[in-house]
Amino acid sequence: MTTSPPVLEVVRDAAAVAHAAADEIQELITGRPAAVLALPTGRTPLPLYAELRRRYQAGHIDFGQVQTFNLDEWVGLGPDHAGSYARFMREQLFSHVNLRPENCHLPNGLAPDLAAECAAYEELIQRAGGFGLAVLGIGRNGHIGFNEPGTPFDSRTHVALVTEETREANRWSFPPGVDPPDRAITVGIATLLEAERILLLVTGAEKAAALERALRGPVDPLVPASALQLHPRVRVIADAAAAHHLDADARTRGG
Ligand code: PGA
Repeated sequence: MTTSPPVLEVVRDAAAVAHAAADEIQELITGRPAAVLALPTGRTPLPLYAELRRRYQAGHIDFGQVQTFNLDEWVGLGPDHAGSYARFMREQLFSHVNLRPENCHLPNGLAPDLAAECAAYEELIQRAGGFGLAVLGIGRNGHIGFNEPGTPFDSRTHVALVTEETREANRWSFPPGVDPPDRAITVGIATLLEAERILLLVTGAEKAAALERALRGPVDPLVPASALQLHPRVRVIADAAAAHHLDADARTRGG
């Protein structure tokens, strides 16, 4: 089933991961100014967004025609809520670069009809031609987006139940005393697997086991990121801490 396994590149630290990822995004946008990107939130992409801000300010990247789709949003949080991903993206990237507001898409966590919102978001992605590049992080339980273990690989944008472990892992991005919601809208695994290219960013020793299972374990919905083994153009950029189980293997591949 697998055509070509994910390419693993191991670099020194989180800054080097951000630099390599920014290089790929810059190169894509330079060649294709109207590129369609899927973007993650969380701790992992913070240095990437800082690097993209720098490159925009230095005149190296023009986001004027780029479209972005975020992977997910919490159910029940509006764009001004401190824990919402809409706010995270404004603060980290959107308000600092020349992305046009109408080209920056996130699911609406306040939609009265969540099923209709999911269908509309999926439709918007399809109308944009799908993702040219999907930038992903990975959860300690192997999730991608909010596709938690057990999510079918044929899933499209849907409302996901967020595990207790994942809610805890996200607590840092909420004000004290505010609990992360237990549901989120996320693009599905099938939606992600249709991206032309996928870039998975992995930093920190706490992700090492998940990364190893994703790349070297069986393709299994219990490890959602193992679905990436089914995609022909996946590049994984990991720091040394995240790849410490995989270092030797990466070296033999010249990664
Ligand atoms: P993190 O989240 O970057 O905050 O670790 C990644 C993820 O859960 O996908």
